[in-house]
Amino acid sequence: LQHLLTTEGLPLSMLLHILDTAESFVGVTERDVKKIPLLRGKSIFNLFFESSTRTRTTFEIAAKRLSADVINLNIAVSAQSKGETLLDTVDNLSAMNADMFVVRHAQSGAAHLIAKHVRSDIHVINAGDGSHAHPTQALLDMFTIRRYKHDFRNLRVAIIGDILHSRVARSQIHALTTLGVPEVRVIAPKTLLPKMVERLGVHVYHDMATGLKDVDVLMMLRLQNERMKGANLPSAEEYFKYYGLTVDKLSLARRDAIVMHPGPMNRGVEIDSAVADGKQSVILPQVTFGIAVRMAVMSILTGN
Ligand code: CP
Repeated sequence: LQHLLTTEGLPLSMLLHILDTAESFVGVTERDVKKIPLLRGKSIFNLFFESSTRTRTTFEIAAKRLSADVINLNIAVSAQSKGETLLDTVDNLSAMNADMFVVRHAQSGAAHLIAKHVRSDIHVINAGDGSHAHPTQALLDMFTIRRYKHDFRNLRVAIIGDILHSRVARSQIHALTTLGVPEVRVIAPKTLLPKMVERLGVHVYHDMATGLKDVDVLMMLRLQNERMKGANLPSAEEYFKYYGLTVDKLSLARRDAIVMHPGPMNRGVEIDSAVADGKQSVILPQVTFGIAVRMAVMSILTGN
């Protein structure tokens, strides 16, 4: 694997290889080995043109645990503000002997553009591009599901909320399908579903009462207000009433169901605090597993 740009088309064997490798890194961190030298001498550039807390930080921690040198380009004070193009920026960083770019961008396809452009010895990881893909988020979600549910083949998984604008949902659906989850549901109002969503192989529900019945895993999504035009914005109160996950709505799912959210959460909009901080929530473990999963992806791309 040269680049990780999407989970679409990622073979089952590669998905499992990433999850298994991540498992070994969780073991390393649990045994309190702070650093391993797999990426010693490599320079990894974090290029975050869109804001991030979890992804950027866990990529940095993961790279440092692998002994890489990490450079976080501060986009706000970079030469982008003087009109430098994305590819000129990339060329200049490549001239500083970059080995890997971790890219987040508001434009779908930005990471693909960079991957096509760079020298063949440079690796690109898509850390989220527009509404298109967020593969490492989906991988850490799969890792979390496997940790808590052990086997993908008997699960009902529901992805709930703003599917239309969600790169996370797309990447999750591709990964869940490849891993053999027999029933992937999406629950959302019609206005927050992509056209022809059924083509993704999912079961579509518009109400929580039927959609959550017998579900093992609930994957909540944030309303992506920044990607909606004013008139299409649902009211937060109305949305919470019908699609916000409360303790009552969660009781419709299986008793041992787990609740996930990629973050950032809008408490009181898509999820109630009693659920987010409740016993069935695995939202913070997701973040922790993100370090091992990103270590796995970086080490596999670089052939280690
Ligand atoms: N899940 C996720 O991508 O979070 P950040 O935007 O904080 O990176």
